[in-house]
Amino acid sequence: MLRLGRPDVKPTLRERDWWRDAVIYQVYPRSFADSDGDGTGDLPGVTARLPYLADLGVDGLWLSPFYRSPLADAGYDVADYRDVDPRFGTLADVDTLIARADDLGLAVLVDLVPNHSSDQHPWFQAAVAAGPGSPERARYLFRDGRGATGELPPNNWRSGFGGPGWTRITEPDGRPGQWYLHLFDVHQPDFDWTCPDVRAEFESVLRFWLDRGVAGFRVDVAHGLIKAPGLPDLTRTPEELATLPTHASPFWDQDGVHEVYAAWRRLLESYGPPDRVLCAEAWVSPPERMARYLRPEEMHQGFAFDFLGCRWDATQLRQVIDAELHTMGAVGAPSTWVLSNHDVVRHASRLGTADPGPVTGGIRAGDPQPDRALGLRRARAATLLMLALPGAAYLYQGEELGLPEHTRLPDEVREDPVWVRSEHAHAGRDGCRVPIPWSAQAPGFGFSPTGATWLPQPPEFAEYAADAQDGVPGSTVELYRAALRLRREHRLGRGRLAWVSAMSSEVLAFDTCGVRVMVNLSSETAALPDGWSVICQSGPLESADAVPVDTAVWLAPARTCG
Ligand code: NOJ
Ligand code: MG
Repeated sequence: MLRLGRPDVKPTLRERDWWRDAVIYQVYPRSFADSDGDGTGDLPGVTARLPYLADLGVDGLWLSPFYRSPLADAGYDVADYRDVDPRFGTLADVDTLIARADDLGLAVLVDLVPNHSSDQHPWFQAAVAAGPGSPERARYLFRDGRGATGELPPNNWRSGFGGPGWTRITEPDGRPGQWYLHLFDVHQPDFDWTCPDVRAEFESVLRFWLDRGVAGFRVDVAHGLIKAPGLPDLTRTPEELATLPTHASPFWDQDGVHEVYAAWRRLLESYGPPDRVLCAEAWVSPPERMARYLRPEEMHQGFAFDFLGCRWDATQLRQVIDAELHTMGAVGAPSTWVLSNHDVVRHASRLGTADPGPVTGGIRAGDPQPDRALGLRRARAATLLMLALPGAAYLYQGEELGLPEHTRLPDEVREDPVWVRSEHAHAGRDGCRVPIPWSAQAPGFGFSPTGATWLPQPPEFAEYAADAQDGVPGSTVELYRAALRLRREHRLGRGRLAWVSAMSSEVLAFDTCGVRVMVNLSSETAALPDGWSVICQSGPLESADAVPVDTAVWLAPARTCG
């Protein structure tokens, strides 16, 4: 039974619109905590660590997919939307997890993957078996090929992971047959969202999880469900696309997606109050197009990926923050900040590279290696900036430990389809998915009782282990705990940001909820203003009146004695 909204839970979760300033912690179940010793994280492992999350001070967690899946794309290839993969546990384990989270006042969001299923999904298997023109095929995007014998793909679309976006099947009679679209891996056929079966099925899946007590859904590839009618060729070059709105691609951000989310919103409303939420994973630009997903009758949150991808540059960060607050504010939506997730290089490493922009392709041993100390210093400052901004925020497991990317994974252990389909041009995302270090001295750093880990951990993870930081003043986990506590006390997520002109354009300074925030991105120390005292700092201060380079502080008006 979902307790959100009851008077005995945390103040932020008592409100109907608790999600507007919630901090949600992303759990990647495979790599969070392993309970049974097989080296793969699982749901009982998550449940056992829920007190750690409550103690950290987050409002809830989002679980990346744990559904039945061949794990061709780490679970984003779902074979059964209503069941748990045996590697992760059982439905009873989900119920236990939700009940325990509920006791601790934590909301549980699950991942919904509506753009594509696994090729092992019974619907896809039935579609292949049923033949061209059948109702079973109409649930996916099957088309005849071009060329004299249909030997060419129906159009020129490419997979986001590299390689062609179409694969030809062998028909049940053994002849070469139709092609199916997969915007991602060959094992992830795209649904046809113009088919009523697909819409009805996903509404039923939403109800299945809402009835089990989830507080909402992170919606995978939310901008991809609808394709331009007729599936026209992509006529733009990659260089042109980089400068055009996302919907210049005939498979992204098509207007038809919005009626899907409006229908889901109505469905979710029937479960509240408090609100059950939809969070869009939509890589859409410009921000005005992103805001369309967050209109009052659609989704509640959408990740601010422009913030995640922004360079460590005060002017650019300020522009991104202003654009985000302005465009989301115009539709009454909170901004939803994020710095790391399971698809990008961890921000503690990204910000330690020579060009800390959007690093999504991964880092290999032979590549220039990030500066760990620089990256961590900036990451802690970036986090303090993020947690002071008005709106909601998502954290990715391990970032509260300052965990770096594993940048020297042996190539032979890489599993990400990005690595395979890019023909090794991109390292892929395995480096940010390495099992979490809980305990510096234990085998596998305490990830699993046997010490087994599905990906190897680098030896330096010992320094970042949770138990090595617990209670240690100045440690990253203690910084997160302090920042989350102060954020809640001051209700920073509900604030209004007012920029303060700083001494340098490379110092970001703003006031919100009576707190002044300063982030020094310049190459010199920045003086602290008179009349304010430090209540939270991302790193050591060399003197009481100055903020060091790559450091952020939160300030409160100084109390005067006497
Ligand atoms: C976005 C997910 O975050 C990513 O991990 C996945 O590979 C793609 N969507 C395809 O589902
Ligand atoms: Mg396990």
